[in-house]
Formats: sequence, structure tokens, C-alpha cells
Amino acid sequence: MKTIRDIGAMRRYARREQASGKTLGFVPTMGYLHAGHDSLVKAARRDNDRVVVSIFVNPAQFGPREDFNRYPRDFKRDETTLEAAGVDVIFYPSKAAMYPEGYATYVTVDRLSDVMCGESRHGHFRGVTTVVLKLFEIIRPDTAYFGCKDFQQTVIIKKMVKDLNMDVAVRVLPTVREPDGLAMSSRNMYLNGHERADARILFKALKKAEDMVKHNERRSRSIIGQLKQVIGRTPNTVIDYVKIVDRDTLQDIAIVKDTAVLALAVTVGKTRLIDNIVLGRKYVRS
Ligand code: PAJ
Repeated sequence: MKTIRDIGAMRRYARREQASGKTLGFVPTMGYLHAGHDSLVKAARRDNDRVVVSIFVNPAQFGPREDFNRYPRDFKRDETTLEAAGVDVIFYPSKAAMYPEGYATYVTVDRLSDVMCGESRHGHFRGVTTVVLKLFEIIRPDTAYFGCKDFQQTVIIKKMVKDLNMDVAVRVLPTVREPDGLAMSSRNMYLNGHERADARILFKALKKAEDMVKHNERRSRSIIGQLKQVIGRTPNTVIDYVKIVDRDTLQDIAIVKDTAVLALAVTVGKTRLIDNIVLGRKYVRS
């Protein structure tokens, strides 16, 4: 495995492998890797001749009052994990290389970026799509891998790829969870003992919604109302949103149907956590 820091060197490696007929899988990350990232790397390893993983804490997707500076970083540990997973290249560019002095170009996916997490994190998805577009252009992977944990991110990236006619397949893999259901996230390390226990409410809420649908409750208002109540009773939590949306348009839907996704964002202590579950498919026939 090698680590490439230089953008030109990364581009040359990718073009050389592609010219010799090798397929290239790509997993973009911000590092501090956990089993969720690992599941993406494993899928990429299975499907491709070469696997590139990027580690870049992208300043463009953090708001001025967000956690860019204290976002956890441990390159040595990540390197060991990725070596063991059989990755070929870590792409580890510097901030100055990705956003040199005078950088001015951004890509925005309209509408989808303004709802849900976009409402409280202005500019966040503009930062995500910009960096992913740059990484896709440097590496030009055949397939890129994303986690369903960041559901809105996957919808926005698929839309960008479609709208800009980009020649990359986007694969989305299921959310990997802790034994008690909490979705794995690099940000879970911010939680203290009490908050970690309180954070279980996110998964419990998703399960409750699933259960309500199983028992034929399909009215989004009723499901969301109940969830807000149970989350509201949990100490240290502030709800950002609980929504049932269409999985392609991200618009609210009133009655749960096949394409319904329940998504929520809750701040536990000072840490904003997100999670989601597909409500449609399994139980609802209409
Ligand atoms: P990061 O939070 O490091 O996540 C990298 C990838 O891992 C994303 O596709 C994310 O959805 C996936 N992931 C995170 N937790 C997961 C879990 N518990 N189960 C499955 N997959 C999980 O998402 C980003 O970085 C950035 O926005 C990025 C796309 C790299 C652009 O900067």
C-alpha cells in the first residue's frame, strides 16, 4: 500500500492503472476510520482490481461554528487499518493542495441540499459535493462507495453524478451499527458516558417507527409525533428534525409508502447525530 499526497501523482497513478485495464474502486472518507468505513472498503476490495481510499477532513463542508478543528484525526491508525484491509492507495492531500489561495469554484445541487440537514447546516452539502467532484475528477473511479448512514449525502451525490453526466457508478451500503444499535460515526467519540447512553434513543426511535408501520400506522404526522415525544423525554437531547421523506426527492410525504425514508437529526449533549431507516419496502404494500 502506498500513501499519495500529491494531486498530480494521484492522477498519474489512477490513469496508469486504468490504461492497463484495471478497475478502480474509490472510498472517500474524512478518516478516523471505524467499521462503517471498513464495510465500504471491503465492498470496494471485492469489486475492483485497485482500491483507493481518500482521507481528507474537508474544511468546505464545516460551518464556522462547527467542529473542523477538533474533528478526530489519527492517520497512523487509519493507515494500519487500511493496510490490513488490502487497500492499494491512500490519497491524503493537504488542505492547501485541495483549496489553494484564491480557490473559487463550488458545485451545488439545488433543492436537495437545502432541506433536512441543509436547513441547519448551511453550505454543508455544497462543501461535500465540491470535494467529491474534485476527488472524482482526480481519481476518475469506476465505482465509488458511500454509506446509507449519511442518507441525504447519497441522494445528493447520485443527483450530481446524474446531472453532470459523470462516468462513475455510485454504490450505497447499509449502516453499520454498534451492538446497541447506535450508528457508527467518528463523532461518537465526542459523547461522554451519559450522553453515549442517551444516544441510544436515535435507534430506539427508528425501531419504534418501524414497529408502528408494521402495525399499520402509515400517517407520517402520527409517527413523527410519537417519535418526538419519546426523544423529547430523553435527557440531554435536542431534536433538530424528524422527517419522513421520499427517498429520491427528499420531500416530506404524508402517508408512508414504498419509497419512504425516516430520517432524524438529534443533538445529544453538544454532538449532533443523524440516523435513518427505510420504512417503505418491508411492510407496506400499496
Ligand atoms: P465520513 O464521515 O468519514 O464518511 C465516509 C463514508 O463512510 C461516507 O460514505 C459515510 O456515509 C460512510 N459511513 C460513515 N458511518 C457509517 C456507518 N456507520 N455505516 C456505513 N457507512 C458509514 O461522509 C463523509 O466522510 C464526507 O462527507 C465525505 C463523503 C468524505 C466528503 O468529505
